[in-house]
Amino acid sequence: PVSVLLDVDTGVDDALAILFAVAHPGINLLGVSCVAGNAALPQVMINTLKVLDAAGAGDIPVAGDASRPLLAPARDASHVHGADGLGGVELPETNRRALDIGAVEMLRQQLEAAAEPVTIIALAPQTNLALLLRTYPEVAPKIARVIFMGGSASVGNATAVAEFNVWHDPEAAAIVLDSGIRTFMYGLDVFNLVSVPQQTAVALQSSDSRAERLAGNLLAHRIGVGADKEPVYTGLIGDAGAVCALVDPDALVIERLPVFVELGGTSRGQTVVDRRQFPGEDALHGLHAQVGLTDVALKVDAERYVELFLSTIATLDWR
Ligand code: BDR
Ligand code: CA
Repeated sequence: PVSVLLDVDTGVDDALAILFAVAHPGINLLGVSCVAGNAALPQVMINTLKVLDAAGAGDIPVAGDASRPLLAPARDASHVHGADGLGGVELPETNRRALDIGAVEMLRQQLEAAAEPVTIIALAPQTNLALLLRTYPEVAPKIARVIFMGGSASVGNATAVAEFNVWHDPEAAAIVLDSGIRTFMYGLDVFNLVSVPQQTAVALQSSDSRAERLAGNLLAHRIGVGADKEPVYTGLIGDAGAVCALVDPDALVIERLPVFVELGGTSRGQTVVDRRQFPGEDALHGLHAQVGLTDVALKVDAERYVELFLSTIATLDWR
């Protein structure tokens, strides 16, 4: 299995991603770091601990750190994930506790202790990762790559051009993209396509398996806002797709492309993905910025990811 550290802002779809990561035999989950994003940090931590319980996870270290972005003000996404971050899906109280060290320290310790470089999967604003890389730059060689849910080569969600995680903390995403560490962007181009049919979600809600019931309840709370401003079912597995990208990259069309984060103006938080075949006027006039390359997921076999997600969750057969 691949050793993985997950960074989350749990979040309805972060919860789906945690269930998947715990269940998948190809993943050795070394720890879960929490950051403010979909909800405030204390709520994110409670949600994360409860979801790990529901998944029947072993003793996986959990720690929290950044309660706000590096520069931007804190802004949650309670209009999508509810005030509790889980869309009102209730989970039993947990005896699981977070570590009494912060997430940055936990990440450093896990990376230093690992025999082989570790994959970080970031499903949230990248504040913790930016703080890690600025505080302990010496850990970079222990990071195999950062797979992040965030950004877009096309449409945005938080703004017309910016995706929520990058928009929430653009400076942090820029630090990670500029770090020299190999990065993989699972952005809205693919995120928006992987959706569980509503009948399937409803069927899961009355499954005998506790984890499947939780997945069904969470999926039933995957809502977006329709044209008439009424909530609509989306069924998106969301962040869980970025974990699928680790174990089944062949379901994706991936291109290695220059990507940078726009930090100013009305397009702040946009990931600018250079998909040109030939150099443009900027290169001609020496205006071309030095931009690092990122593996960008541009297309997905959505049915294959839905099937992978559901069949993996089914193995968490908790009754
Ligand atoms: C991202 O923002 C959050 O709402 C989701 O959990 C996901 O990580 C989508 O833009
Ligand atoms: Ca998230």
